[in-house]
Amino acid sequence: MLASGCFLVFLVSFCSFSSSFALTDAEAAFIARRQLLGDNEELSNTLEEMTVNLKFENDRLKKAYIGLQAWKKAVYSDPFKFTANWEGADVCAYKGVFCDQALDDPTITVVAGIDLNHADIAGHLPVEIGHLVDVSLIHLNSNRFCGIIPRSIKNLLLLDEADFSNNRFVGPFPDVLLELPKLKYLDLRFNNFEGQVPSGLFDKNLDAIFLNDNRFHSIIPENFGNSNASVVVLANNRFYGCIPKSIGKMGNTLDELIVTNNELSGCLPEEISKLVSLTVFDFGRNKFAGSLPKDLKSMQKVEIFDIASNSFMGNVPKNLCTLPKLANFTFSKNYFESMDETLASPPLPVASPPLPIASPPKPVASPPPPPVASPPLLVHSPPPPVASPPKPVASPPSPMASPPKPVASPPLPVHSTPPTVASPPKPVASPPPPVASPPLPGHSAPVPAPPAFEDVVLPPTLGSLYASPPPPIFQGY
Ligand SMILES: *[C@@H]1O[C@H](CO)[C@@H](O)[C@H](O)[C@H]1NC(C)=O
Ligand SMILES: *[C@@H]1O[C@H](CO)[C@@H](O)[C@H](O)[C@H]1NC(C)=O
Repeated sequence: MLASGCFLVFLVSFCSFSSSFALTDAEAAFIARRQLLGDNEELSNTLEEMTVNLKFENDRLKKAYIGLQAWKKAVYSDPFKFTANWEGADVCAYKGVFCDQALDDPTITVVAGIDLNHADIAGHLPVEIGHLVDVSLIHLNSNRFCGIIPRSIKNLLLLDEADFSNNRFVGPFPDVLLELPKLKYLDLRFNNFEGQVPSGLFDKNLDAIFLNDNRFHSIIPENFGNSNASVVVLANNRFYGCIPKSIGKMGNTLDELIVTNNELSGCLPEEISKLVSLTVFDFGRNKFAGSLPKDLKSMQKVEIFDIASNSFMGNVPKNLCTLPKLANFTFSKNYFESMDETLASPPLPVASPPLPIASPPKPVASPPPPPVASPPLLVHSPPPPVASPPKPVASPPSPMASPPKPVASPPLPVHSTPPTVASPPKPVASPPPPVASPPLPGHSAPVPAPPAFEDVVLPPTLGSLYASPPPPIFQGY
């Protein structure tokens, strides 16, 4: 008893006093260690005694009550008082708790969802979260939950949407989530998960996989292409290695693939051209090299194609530039030698939208630098001195001056898929870097958090229409 009291005091001081700045690694590790020392899988019924004087409509609500009370105890700071009314037997009246008919028995009511989005709660997830066996969604976007995701969560056999985004979770990839048979939407972005990403992730039938803005240091497993996900966002981690050839299998399902700002290398496999459903292809700010796959004309739906800040060379293939939906093609800061004639001559009247031509001036006659010398990043550098004006682009007037408008359709389709993480602004129209300024080290620049998304479907939307709200920016993240 005394020991657990101390534990709580420690947690309180770690989780709440650090609210104005980021949790340090030591603090996060401390909390995770304490969670691991306690058995984070076995559910005890010690809280059973709490319910003796309460009457519940059914046993499943009683079980949920036990889970929710334990969760409330694991809350150290709740500035908006989300959990203030978490008292008494009427759990369906608790703020952020949603009840519905049980799927297996429409005559009884159960707790079907937890939505604490934007509650800014500091706390951790107690092992008793495993009592919430009827929930199909848990939305915890933008809180300060820390520590690990307890293994007891594997009891939530109906969990369909797991949104843990923008918290302070730590540790390796939470494998336990892969044991959830119904999981379709997995959102771990903006946390401190680290290490390898398990191949099992891509053998799971998920619709959306958000891993961006963590500390994953991993290859992309060979079975990547087994995934049926329509959205995969791996941006702003430390993924390395090549794009698996299996990606070609995702042709009919993959809508958005965003891997910007990692350490991925190698050539793009020709199989990329099989991604006929893709609308967003963002491979910017990696270490890809070689030439682009020649045959990309099959990517008829692509609207955004970003390969800036890599080490690509050779030609920009003509068939890429004439893709009918292409609204934004960014390829600056590579070593392209020439553009195919479509780019170098006036664009076709209707079909091809103006392209932001911002590729850096070619280092004259010298071979491309070795892979180590990656092109300098401009993202956070001050505007370069006016000394060296941009090189005029060959024949047509450069579209640089007037920013191109997305012609055909809005850049991102807003339907059932979750929002894309907007990649950080790229210096499309800025002049090439002055020769004098030293190149910035590849990935040391802090990445700005994405701007807020516009279209947020707020819960209680049960089902795939749910779109995770934008993660706000925690200072120090
Ligand atoms: C993808 O969908 C196909 C067809 O529905 C299915 O056979 C396959 O198992 C799914 N892949 C995964 C990883 O769930
Ligand atoms: C094109 O994309 C780049 C980076 O992806 C962005 O900075 C730029 O603003 C976009 N341009 C337009 C016209 O949308």
